Amino acid sequence: MRLPNPKLTARMKHFIDNALKGQPLWDICCDHGYVGIKALETSQFSEVHFVDQVPHIMERLETLIKQYWRIKPEHKYSLHLLSGEELEMDVHGTMLVAGVGGLTIKTIVSALIENKKLHAKRLLLSPHTDEKVLIQYLDDADFQKIYGVTEKILMPEGKRFRPLYILDLK
Ligand SMILES: C[S@@+](CC[C@H](N)C(=O)[O-])C[C@H]1O[C@@H](n2cnc3c(N)ncnc32)[C@H](O)[C@@H]1O
Repeated sequence: MRLPNPKLTARMKHFIDNALKGQPLWDICCDHGYVGIKALETSQFSEVHFVDQVPHIMERLETLIKQYWRIKPEHKYSLHLLSGEELEMDVHGTMLVAGVGGLTIKTIVSALIENKKLHAKRLLLSPHTDEKVLIQYLDDADFQKIYGVTEKILMPEGKRFRPLYILDLK
């Protein structure tokens, strides 16, 4: 199987630039996994967790990581084949959820809070649709007791701009 060479777009670079260094990075809904792979290459994260619910995506990603010469044995990573909302491990460091709808982001974040799994100091949330659903959730009084929006960035991607909400634990 011919595997692609991971390429970092300007949008993905924003994710790595805004993630907390020296801590774990969780890439939920990782798909191609390029953000996590490039994050591993920087050696700036204690561990990178890749999460996606589609088996063939995770199989391909595992093969890519094993074959990619820039990933060294000292780079720690784990692959989790499940829905973000079903995670059973405690999530620390930075949790990124990008490239899905606002409703999916809300479902994942709220389930992890409900299950007491979400301990990330920083959330990077970038909806590609249903942004209003996410905005409503971020405005919820109970949610605001836990996380607050530090910044909203508009990231260029092709001819459009994608929102990135940076939230920090209170
Ligand atoms: C368009 S890709 C986003 C890729 C990458 N995060 C980005 O922003 O470039 C969406 C991915 O989200 C995954 N996905 C959708 N809902 C999910 C969920 N609830 N839990 C885990 N993965 C999910 C899909 O399988 C797909 O691989």
